[in-house]
Amino acid sequence: MATVELRNVGKVYEGGVRAVDNANITVNDREFVVLVGPSGCGKTTTLRMVAGLEDITEGELYIDGNLVNDIPPKDRDIAMVFQNYALYPHMTVYDNKAAQILEIEELLDRKPKALSGGQRQRVALGRAIVRKPKVFLFDEPLSNLDAKLRVQMRAEISALHTRLQATMIYVTHDQVEAMTMADKIVVMKSGIIQQIGSPLDLYNNPANRFVAGFLGSPSMNFLTAKLREEAGKVIADEGDSQIELLPQQAAALKSYVGREIVVGIRPEDFIYNEKGGKGIRTHVEIIEPLGAEIHVYVSTKKHQMISRVAPTVHFKVGDEAVFNPMMDRVKFFDLETEQAIPA
Ligand SMILES: Nc1ncnc2c1ncn2[C@@H]1O[C@H](COP(=O)(O)OP(=O)(O)OP(=O)(O)O)[C@@H](O)[C@H]1O
Ligand SMILES: [Mg+2]
Repeated sequence: MATVELRNVGKVYEGGVRAVDNANITVNDREFVVLVGPSGCGKTTTLRMVAGLEDITEGELYIDGNLVNDIPPKDRDIAMVFQNYALYPHMTVYDNKAAQILEIEELLDRKPKALSGGQRQRVALGRAIVRKPKVFLFDEPLSNLDAKLRVQMRAEISALHTRLQATMIYVTHDQVEAMTMADKIVVMKSGIIQQIGSPLDLYNNPANRFVAGFLGSPSMNFLTAKLREEAGKVIADEGDSQIELLPQQAAALKSYVGREIVVGIRPEDFIYNEKGGKGIRTHVEIIEPLGAEIHVYVSTKKHQMISRVAPTVHFKVGDEAVFNPMMDRVKFFDLETEQAIPA
């Protein structure tokens, strides 16, 4: 049993930098929670407060229901794996106490400088595992590895989580890691938690424009459009193109009629219409064939947008292309507050 709870936790560094503001996070027993957000948003600070390596300025931190604000790191029963493999350079892998579980037995006599990045990170993991801590903390453990190894280690850490049935908190700025590894994602920006939820929850129901744009690659397209009513229908007018809202969307956005809003369309929901006709009229600007799909960058007079298209479609730069948003997947955001408008 190992739970972690942050209640109204804040951190102000000496000199007055506020790194974390009023964080409320519940990590359940055996849960894999990922803290994600851009550089400087307070991920490492949050993790270091959980580890006890950083004083908590405000609020309370509970591990297994016990208030641990003033408990030193060594008594918190926590193991932390850092970005830059913190191995002891004079010790062998064996001394660094790596486990069989990580398939590094043939390396046991080696010293860290004789290991690849991935092997070092496995040893660091091994050292954390043998301590059998209540909670594992990871701070960007894969960011020094090359792309292929990162994908492999990502899967290994996920498998390890399943095998050890341990509570884990994992920090990354990589939204793909967050989406693929997490039971629960905490999205942070400028020290403030933006949203907490399962990966698909956040992907499908982002609370605001920041979360919507941060999760997913390529990013969600955002169009500024003015809402107007016409013959009983509500239209989002982008300038050149008009998007007709579904009846329930029209009802939900009634108070926005006459004002500008932000329409969010994911690249996979921005569907190429081979027949042309009605829709968002664009010109093709950049074509990125990825093999399994094409990312096509197109623009209207006002906006640049990306669509994911089947590899069989043949575009040329400069082509006119019409796209139709999958209306039941489209999101709406308040232009000023950037909060999602439930519709
Ligand atoms: N020891 C410190 N003293 C003062 N300010 C600090 C200190 N450590 C971090 N900060 C500031 O606190 C904020 C959050 O930093 P933190 O390291 O938690 O961000 P992060 O999300 O981990 O970023 P990254 O993705 O770059 O690692 C930043 O503005 C940073 O400059
Ligand atoms: Mg960090």
